[in-house]
Amino acid sequence: MKLIKLKIAILATVGLAVSLSAGRAEPLATRNCTWCHGGTPAQGYTPAPRLAGQKYQYILKQISDFRWHRRNNPYSKLYMWAAGGHLTPQRAHHLAAYFSSLSPMPANDGDRELVARGRRMFAEGIPDANIPSCVACHGPRGQGFGEIPRIGGLAYTYLRRRLEQWAEGYDASALHPMPEVAGKMSPRMIAALASYLSFVK
Ligand code: HEC
Ligand code: HEC
Repeated sequence: MKLIKLKIAILATVGLAVSLSAGRAEPLATRNCTWCHGGTPAQGYTPAPRLAGQKYQYILKQISDFRWHRRNNPYSKLYMWAAGGHLTPQRAHHLAAYFSSLSPMPANDGDRELVARGRRMFAEGIPDANIPSCVACHGPRGQGFGEIPRIGGLAYTYLRRRLEQWAEGYDASALHPMPEVAGKMSPRMIAALASYLSFVK
């Protein structure tokens, strides 16, 4: 708990530094992103998600969503509105190309007992709750395509929070069908899907 608090305090300081320097229109180096998004490189560092191997077009769309404050959940607002809001299109293109070219590693931090249930839901959806198969869009390893993100191997807490926050009304302009799909999920379904996905390579 102490460690998490410390990390958040560090992130808050970096967020401030970034927003101050952004005012002077300094180009933001990749280093400014990996400070929060983790080393080895960019494999994620709670609460910032892994960017390594994320899809180029998806990264660009998220940067634009941060810039125009469409992605408005608390951590996006606190950290990414400043860090992503002032990137020139060229800078955003370079960063997205760089991060998408890195090899992703799985976080492996979900609940192993929920993996089997999560795997089934990922493959088949939940017909009774009118939830489609995730494979249909995200691919068999959750690897994504274009504006559909790579979700295999992202950290448990990040995945869980993203799915919960759509149901809470945040990030409502995200591409169809995520806000609707996530809004129909129970906490148990979310925990199982996030656990399974955290182990996917
Ligand atoms: C001060 C810390 C911080 C810095 C610096 C930072 N980020 Fe982030 N970033 C975050 C956090 C925290 C999130 C998660 C937001 C959420 O919970 O939805 C995030 C989310 C993202 C996402 C969304 C990923 C996804 O899977 O949806 C992208 C893309 C991103 N950041 C790119 C960047 C880039 C590019 C840079 C450098 C210009 C950068 N970030 C710098 C903290 C940071
Ligand atoms: C019809 C296609 C489609 C289906 C089916 C689908 N998704 Fe998505 N998903 C998307 C798209 C497109 C996005 C990007 C939304 C945006 O930010 O604009 C996304 C984003 C996500 C994200 C955010 C990832 C990140 O890096 O922040 C998660 C988590 C996710 N989906 C999980 C799921 C799960 C779990 C299922 C199955 C229950 C599922 N999706 C079914 C298309 C789909």
